[in-house]
Amino acid sequence: MVLLKRGKEIYVHMSVKVNITDEKLAKLKAIMEINKKKPGPLMPTLHEAQKIFGCIPIEIQKVIAKELNESIAKINGVVTFYGNFSVEPKGENVINVCLGTACYVRGSQGVLDAFQDELRIHSGQTTEDGKFTLQSTRCIGACGLAPIFTVNDTVYGNASVSKAKEVLSTLR
Ligand code: FES
Repeated sequence: MVLLKRGKEIYVHMSVKVNITDEKLAKLKAIMEINKKKPGPLMPTLHEAQKIFGCIPIEIQKVIAKELNESIAKINGVVTFYGNFSVEPKGENVINVCLGTACYVRGSQGVLDAFQDELRIHSGQTTEDGKFTLQSTRCIGACGLAPIFTVNDTVYGNASVSKAKEVLSTLR
């Protein structure tokens, strides 16, 4: 469920909340004022928006579109194309399973399937309790440890279905 309460300045996705406060909006607008004076202001603005709000929902995309005089379609296209950005808030733990060649040939698809089964979500989704976001990624340059998955900033090498289950049980 996605709900924007007028006047409450809180954007809600499932049980994960994104505070769109006046203070945060002022911060974003100040950054856009600086970025507007430089060539290519969109990408640095989106990076800052992601940092400030934890995601870039359509409400924030509209603010950016107006300030930078860009179409919402273009901004939404960039936000949804790049893995660094997200339209919806991410969970407390972001799991990324590498599907790069070295990891894939060593069974990373099975690891991703195990996470999907355990969490009852598909790759790209967040659990309803807001605890886990599951994603797949391309090579992160740790092929010697293939197959790998990451949870936030921690890399787990020589991954397996049992290791995925073990890590999940410690995080639950
Ligand atoms: S292919 Fe997975 S880390 Fe390189």
